[in-house]
Amino acid sequence: MSNKTFTMVKPHAVADNNIGGIIQMIETAGFRIVAMKKVLLTSENAGKFYEVHKERPFYAELCETMSAGPIIPMILEKENAVADFRALIGSTDPADAAEGTIRKKYAKSKGENAVHGSDSDENAQIESSFFFSGIEQF
Ligand code: TYD
Repeated sequence: MSNKTFTMVKPHAVADNNIGGIIQMIETAGFRIVAMKKVLLTSENAGKFYEVHKERPFYAELCETMSAGPIIPMILEKENAVADFRALIGSTDPADAAEGTIRKKYAKSKGENAVHGSDSDENAQIESSFFFSGIEQF
């Protein structure tokens, strides 16, 4: 089991000045930031990142939402990182997200749900290398 996962602070949360509040929750939960930057995706690049969802009805909206403004991609390190981070972010739909989760506090809707979190070790690796080269990871 890998000790790393990948996340992004989504455009609406960056625009609302919630980068710091979200990182505070991530660090307080015991994750160490391995890599971090600010990136503006084109709709096409958002589409490549979310290619697994391309047949889903929300795909076009997802590509627009994720390219509406800059994002903060990060690689995070902690024991049991993927599962622990999924627990920290909470359910996709903020209406279902538990108290104390990032999405409960910062998500606005299913699409504008504040943060991404990888759902497997394999996807964490693929998603990390979409944004970061080896010399950006410490
Ligand atoms: P998904 O992988 O199901 O959720 P999660 O981010 O919790 O792993 O979906 C990816 C993203 O797609 C999700 O964060 C927001 C968007 N999305 C919608 O806009 N509408 C939806 O009905 C679903 C399921 C997801």
